[in-house]
Amino acid sequence: MGAYADEYSRSTTDPEGFWAEQARAIDWHAPPSTVLDGARAPLYRWFPDGELNTCVNAVDRHVAAGRGDQPAVIHDSAITGEVHTLTYAQLQERVAKFAGVLAGLGVAKGDRVVIYLPMITEAVVAMLACARIGAVHSVVFGGFAAPELAARLDDAQPAVIVTASCGLEGDKVLPYLPIVHAAVDAAAAKPGAVVVWQRPRLTAELGPLDHDWAAAERAAAPADPVPVAATDPLYILYTSGTTGKPKGVVRDNGGHAVALTYSMRAIYDAGPGEVWWTASDVGWVVGHSYIVYAPLLIGATTVVYEGKPVGTPDAGAFWRVIERHGVRNLFTAPTALRAIRKEDPDAEFVAASDISSLRTLFMAGERLDPDTYEWAAAKLGVPVIDHWWQTETGWPIAANLRGVEPMPVKPGSATVPVPGYGVRIVDDAGRDVPAGTEGAVVISLPLPPGTLPTLWGADQRYIDSYLTTFPGNYLTGDGGYLDEDGYLFVMGRTDDVINVAGHRLSTGALEAAIAGHPAVAECAVIGVADQLKGQLPRALVALKAGGDWDADAVRAEIVQLVRDTVGAVAALKEVAIVAALPKTRSGKILRRSMRAIAEGRDEAVPSTIENPDVLDDLRGVLRG
Ligand code: COA
Ligand code: AMP
Repeated sequence: MGAYADEYSRSTTDPEGFWAEQARAIDWHAPPSTVLDGARAPLYRWFPDGELNTCVNAVDRHVAAGRGDQPAVIHDSAITGEVHTLTYAQLQERVAKFAGVLAGLGVAKGDRVVIYLPMITEAVVAMLACARIGAVHSVVFGGFAAPELAARLDDAQPAVIVTASCGLEGDKVLPYLPIVHAAVDAAAAKPGAVVVWQRPRLTAELGPLDHDWAAAERAAAPADPVPVAATDPLYILYTSGTTGKPKGVVRDNGGHAVALTYSMRAIYDAGPGEVWWTASDVGWVVGHSYIVYAPLLIGATTVVYEGKPVGTPDAGAFWRVIERHGVRNLFTAPTALRAIRKEDPDAEFVAASDISSLRTLFMAGERLDPDTYEWAAAKLGVPVIDHWWQTETGWPIAANLRGVEPMPVKPGSATVPVPGYGVRIVDDAGRDVPAGTEGAVVISLPLPPGTLPTLWGADQRYIDSYLTTFPGNYLTGDGGYLDEDGYLFVMGRTDDVINVAGHRLSTGALEAAIAGHPAVAECAVIGVADQLKGQLPRALVALKAGGDWDADAVRAEIVQLVRDTVGAVAALKEVAIVAALPKTRSGKILRRSMRAIAEGRDEAVPSTIENPDVLDDLRGVLRG
């Protein structure tokens, strides 16, 4: 038996023994005596009687072990050109002080704190400070507009919001505080305070709720870590579902620390003291797990990069960061490589930098198309490793386990199921399909530690959305197949979630925004293939009869409306005005048929369509 097969088999035949062993890598305040609690199945809990503190595991214990002078966080901004480093000892001091600020504002164990910050060191400090006092953070991506932030405030009901004066996107300075104030005004749940980090590029004028971060930090007494139950929530991260209402994915403390620590060794082959860089954003799960928690849990140095792969300054930015900091492992999304390749197809910028420290490039967030894979593998000269996971799981479901048994790469495949994950491909009746046959990708319960125990305040929604379609299994929402060698090929979402530049978006949320325009009778948003961003949202809109609408003006207003309601990250630029949308006899809009028409698969349009006369118009719009 190979090392992978052996490890995988141990994780499935004796999951409790396997995870008890992995749990030894964590410092526990009270070690767990029970590993898995299935009393409330299908809701499972890992390490139910364990107690720990995630911040202690990510920071304090490394200082105690002599890593105090090692860089913990390197902030590198391509936009300001500045680099700032915090050692583990400095990180401990800042986190303890900021935890003191939060405690001084009345934040206690179990209270929620919403973090709306750009890619600055303070984002890491704020997250860890929450963990230190047992508060539950909910980081909201900076590209979301005020109404999306307000929806999250209403669901999470935070005691405090932590923000900055501005974000920097290329040469744009984006003021954050007006967005936060608008969200607070719109939300029913009002926080008690807003803490604002003033950035040199923009000094925000503070209102009655607002506190200046730096002044508060100077005045605060450091807060000691508070032990929490392994099953207590560490964070809530909202992600897009099929409806417009975001789902609050809950992450616990114990399972999370154990799983991420295991992943760094087994999947990434990464160790303490190494420089690790995930080029993503703390607002996404990739940022939570692999910018902040996982590298710090193992005592590595994490690079927090502010900027895009191209533009400011140029398509060589990534390679210079690798050279400057001696980055050993880079993790990013395929769209970033496609953007670089477009600007620098011959990889002249790669040749101009010394990237000899780089050992492996990890890719996730969207499908790694074979073309981009081939380009990166050839130009970088290191293994390019695709792996597949999602916000809900928090760490990889399928990967090429570099620390267990590196396997040959098959372009287009995320490789094999990670130990702990019982990956199955099933047909509509829930039966396993033969190798090579596409079906729904599901994971048999229980999911391993680190994955979502539930949705925030919504156990039943969790059960209904994920655990009911195929009882005993978790529905991933992705379709795919396993080949004869057990390699998993993930082909894309089977629901109405789209993936734009590695950003997960709900077509339902975009449709809800568009429906707010007075001219719109009905609308649908579908994802269409895009060479750079993987997918782009495209809106199809039928206007109300009898109105004297100016089509160009309506299109422009809809683009602006989506920007103001969902945010710039929605990247909605294409709005087509059509006579009507295709529907079933019961009046349901046939989104799948529209996607099929856009892809030239007209045969997939059901013959039972209620209004076939709209199809010619749609073909013209979607393929024209
Ligand atoms: N705060 C405010 N606005 C933001 C933002 C943020 N944190 N992130 C993105 N935006 C804005 C952008 O400025 C842009 O605005 P614009 O329409 O005024 O130009 C809009 O949202 C769309 O952004 P994006 O989709 O990122 O497109 P882009 O053209 O600016 O950049 C890429 C394209 C491919 C270079 C970029 O998306 C990228 O680097 N992607 C990697 C994604 C990633 O790391 N995903 C995480 C999963 S691993
Ligand atoms: P998110 O929750 O934002 O991480 O998005 C998760 C979704 O992104 C998954 O359900 C997939 O549809 C897609 N995805 C992420 N990584 C990959 C990958 N390596 N290959 C294919 N799709 C991926």
